[in-house]
Amino acid sequence: MKANPGGNLDPDMVYGRDALIALIWERLEQQSIVINAERRIGKTQILRKMLAEPKAGWRPVFRDLERVHSAQEFAELVYDDVQQFLGTGTRAKNFLQRLLEDNETNYVNLKSRTWKQLLVSAVEDLMKSKLPSRLVLFWDEVPYMLESILKKDGPEVAAEILDTVRSLRVEQNAFRVIFTGSIGLHHVLGKLSAAGIPTSAKNDMYHLTVTPLAPPDAERLAADLLSGEGIKCSSREDAAATISEVVDYFPFYIHHVVAGLRIEQLSASDSNIKDFVARHLVDASDPWQLSHYRNRLSTYYPNDNDAKMVAIILDVLAVTNAPADSLSADEILARATSRGATVPDRDDLLWLLRLMDADHYLSRDTDGSYRFRFPLIRRWWKLDRGL
Ligand SMILES: Nc1ncnc2c1ncn2[C@@H]1O[C@H](COP(=O)(O)OP(=O)(O)OP(=O)(O)O)[C@@H](O)[C@H]1O
Ligand SMILES: [Mg+2]
Repeated sequence: MKANPGGNLDPDMVYGRDALIALIWERLEQQSIVINAERRIGKTQILRKMLAEPKAGWRPVFRDLERVHSAQEFAELVYDDVQQFLGTGTRAKNFLQRLLEDNETNYVNLKSRTWKQLLVSAVEDLMKSKLPSRLVLFWDEVPYMLESILKKDGPEVAAEILDTVRSLRVEQNAFRVIFTGSIGLHHVLGKLSAAGIPTSAKNDMYHLTVTPLAPPDAERLAADLLSGEGIKCSSREDAAATISEVVDYFPFYIHHVVAGLRIEQLSASDSNIKDFVARHLVDASDPWQLSHYRNRLSTYYPNDNDAKMVAIILDVLAVTNAPADSLSADEILARATSRGATVPDRDDLLWLLRLMDADHYLSRDTDGSYRFRFPLIRRWWKLDRGL
């Protein structure tokens, strides 16, 4: 198997996700799902594998919503997907019928009402169908689409989309959808709430977090890539274990390391692997796009000097030599203050820490203390900030 960092994979090249995929299909019997996870962890490959190998009785339809910039466009896509599932005959009939029936008497609101009607009628048509397989809509990059609609058409329209889809889920018991994306949905909900439009848009959905691969799966992936790329090593198992561990079991970076060893024509010795990763963490051209973890701070934490505060909190957690590398909120507060952070009060700090956890910068130990979630990112942060 050849390395393919960032590309779409054939389903049998998606390693270590079978149990999770089985769980997703099982959950879908009961409810819709929102998948939340750090960028580049492999969310899209999970959906694509499910699309290529659907469970008997299901028909998934995958949509990348990244390039959708209006509610109208979104509703049309959903409508088309549903009508295609139902068969093109019903498509034209339903569409024309609906628009005539529902809009004839209301020309004034025609434009603003159309997208919602289209969406609702698509799902109603779907639910009435007696087809043997069940449609499930996989919507990738939902928060991205909502952010762009929010910017272009305002928070009301973004909220209306979320609320309409939620009503459909509540009213149509059998309707199923999976939301995912590279930014957390909580960012969009936070903006809506700040604009005075709180929404319970995902309360009825099952929340699922995707983690990096389990070590045995990561090692199997690394070993197969090493052999597929014909890379020399004295023990493939040892090399695979080193690669997996040094990149925190992220399949994306495992692909990168093997591809890089191949390009540089290096053997997979322990020192070559560690040196390769160390060089990439400080490479000015940032081939793994780690600067994303720094650049997104101002977008994720736009208020006052929150982004600066978050950076200082990350500094504190990057340099701590506390046992287990985790610190309590009070320890973080004291150390951040001594590094020049100005936190209005302790509640503000707690609020920021919670957000940083939701954004996968941090995770919590069972005693409530906080730590960097991924050692690789911690290592990069330390180097990037010159700590
Ligand atoms: N299960 C896996 N087995 C092997 N390689 C994988 C797996 N998951 C992800 N990858 C590798 O990681 C890359 C990124 O995966 P993917 O695009 O699914 O991530 P993502 O979480 O959707 O990222 P983003 O947040 O940027 O949308 C893939 O192109 C592939 O190289
Ligand atoms: Mg993706």
